[in-house]
Amino acid sequence: MCGIVAYIGPREAYPVLMKGLHRLEYRGYDSAGICLLNGDIRVFKCKGKVSDLEAFVAGENISGNIGMAHTRWATHGEPNTINAHPHFSQNKTIALIHNGIIENYSVLRSELKNRGYTFTSETDTEVLVHLIEDIMTNEQVSVEEAVRIALNQVIGAYAIVILAKEFPNKIIAARKGSPMVIGIGKDEFFVASDATPLIEYTDNVVYLNDEEIAIIERDKELKIKTIRNQDQTPYIEKLVMSLNEIEKGGFDHFMLKEIYEQPRSIFDSMRGRLHLDQGTVTLGGISDYVQKILKAKRIIITACGTSWHAGLVGEYLIEDLARIPVEVEYSSEFRYRNPVLSEDDVVIAISQSGETADTLAAIDLAKSKGATVLGICNVVGSSIARATNAGVYTHAGPEIGVASTKAFTAQVAVLTLLGLLLAQKKGTLPASKFQKILVELDSIPSKVERILKLNEKIRDIATIYKDVKNSLYLGRGYNFPVALEGALKLKEISYIHAEGYPAAEMKHGPIALIDEFMPVVFIATRRGIYDKVITNIEEVKARKGKIIAIVTEGDESVKKLADHCIEIPDTEEMLIPLLATVPLQLLSYHIAVMRNCNVDQPRNLAKSVTVE
Ligand code: M6R
Repeated sequence: MCGIVAYIGPREAYPVLMKGLHRLEYRGYDSAGICLLNGDIRVFKCKGKVSDLEAFVAGENISGNIGMAHTRWATHGEPNTINAHPHFSQNKTIALIHNGIIENYSVLRSELKNRGYTFTSETDTEVLVHLIEDIMTNEQVSVEEAVRIALNQVIGAYAIVILAKEFPNKIIAARKGSPMVIGIGKDEFFVASDATPLIEYTDNVVYLNDEEIAIIERDKELKIKTIRNQDQTPYIEKLVMSLNEIEKGGFDHFMLKEIYEQPRSIFDSMRGRLHLDQGTVTLGGISDYVQKILKAKRIIITACGTSWHAGLVGEYLIEDLARIPVEVEYSSEFRYRNPVLSEDDVVIAISQSGETADTLAAIDLAKSKGATVLGICNVVGSSIARATNAGVYTHAGPEIGVASTKAFTAQVAVLTLLGLLLAQKKGTLPASKFQKILVELDSIPSKVERILKLNEKIRDIATIYKDVKNSLYLGRGYNFPVALEGALKLKEISYIHAEGYPAAEMKHGPIALIDEFMPVVFIATRRGIYDKVITNIEEVKARKGKIIAIVTEGDESVKKLADHCIEIPDTEEMLIPLLATVPLQLLSYHIAVMRNCNVDQPRNLAKSVTVE
């Protein structure tokens, strides 16, 4: 996920672009860059935040009325200055910024290399700008036509802006799958990933649709055409937004925004990996290690916090689907307890930030004993991504709220793909069952959308329980890790004591805590160990505990017992964590807000724990 902004008009472009970049920085801050067109075409870019770019260009000639800028969240290629956008074409007359992922970039890259193009970066983006130059040179067409032809060869997602030295009064912008809005002012135009950079200049906006190209020229009407060369009439909308509202993309907190991003982040984590039509799963990052995993005596998953909870779901998934033994270890314990490890073991380290010190130390230990170490990380180029032998990125986008939300579901999505991939290679699942799970997995983003519509109802429940002192979260099977994650979310942001437990373990101790003041959150979905959980609910009810239950849509049995039911769509048992976690995130969020807690930066915590 990156942020892009562009401007053409009578103003100096630089301050408009810089202010815009600051507003878009939540989308990524691995590097930043700017391109200004003023006779010459000049690019300034550097690793780091937008403020680093400002320091970098200080003293440079930055005047010009047309320009574009980019703030990067690295996906392909580590976060450094070379991989920062804008990227130049070979003859340095065209510059391009991009938000998205070009999935077929390696094929395009080889073809362009064969035609004599030299690549300076490791990004997927650079193929686009060379391809456009190649088409312009060989087919003698305008830049917009070259963009159109190029985009017909591209598979993946993009929001791009292009400036060409030859066309000093023109911006070309296009999108598919990544957002893009065009602001129309008096004699000026703005382009951005969201409306935040243009809100103080205009309220006339056009949201570009997928596969549309905008040709933006000063003193001319905005022109839009599709990549199939059909002219489109720009649909101008009024922006109804105030500056305060949009600081976090319209959300009060990053955490809420990130909860709402989950349909997209789960989708992005599966994109190009789940092939429904072919009935297959691919994980390019670990393709060279699949045989090693299949032959492994066991898999050890190591992680901390929420990532450890995702690992627990991973254990259930991989054992269930691929019949390979899995153990899940807290990195902080594993690193100090002299575990038995050998070259036959495969260790999978899971981390959102890729910087967690305990997990890094666990990786070092595993490597020193000869184990193969793979990573599941969200941050490209992070220490854990570099320290592992290979890995799979979760494409959740930057997670800014300290409480992990969309990273968890992205990790579980990737672990599900891994379980399915191993099952397919090992032949442990009947083809029909495999395809059924694939179809269900593909529908998870839309089912999460449906759960997000329950927000108001969940807020009403939060109102009732916001002042409690303690709470229990109970689940069995796949819902046990969900209970742990629900409890962690509540305690870390609302400071209410919350414990997650396997539901059946309640009678071995925690049941002593139950009285009329104790809310117990049950994850009691119909698939899995359902009847037994109902018995546990009865036991709580008999002791006057308050019951909040996550149930399957249409459930009747739990409804008769629970004080509150939150209904989620039905799905395969192994996919329930991807759905059941979402209402628990919302419940914690609303309780924390009602208690006036600092939701995004809870006390004593940090987003990445780089110390022991
Ligand atoms: O970046 P990581 O996934 O390695 O971080 C692990 C934990 O520190 C993290 O999940 C932490 O527990 C979160 N605050 C939970 O919301």
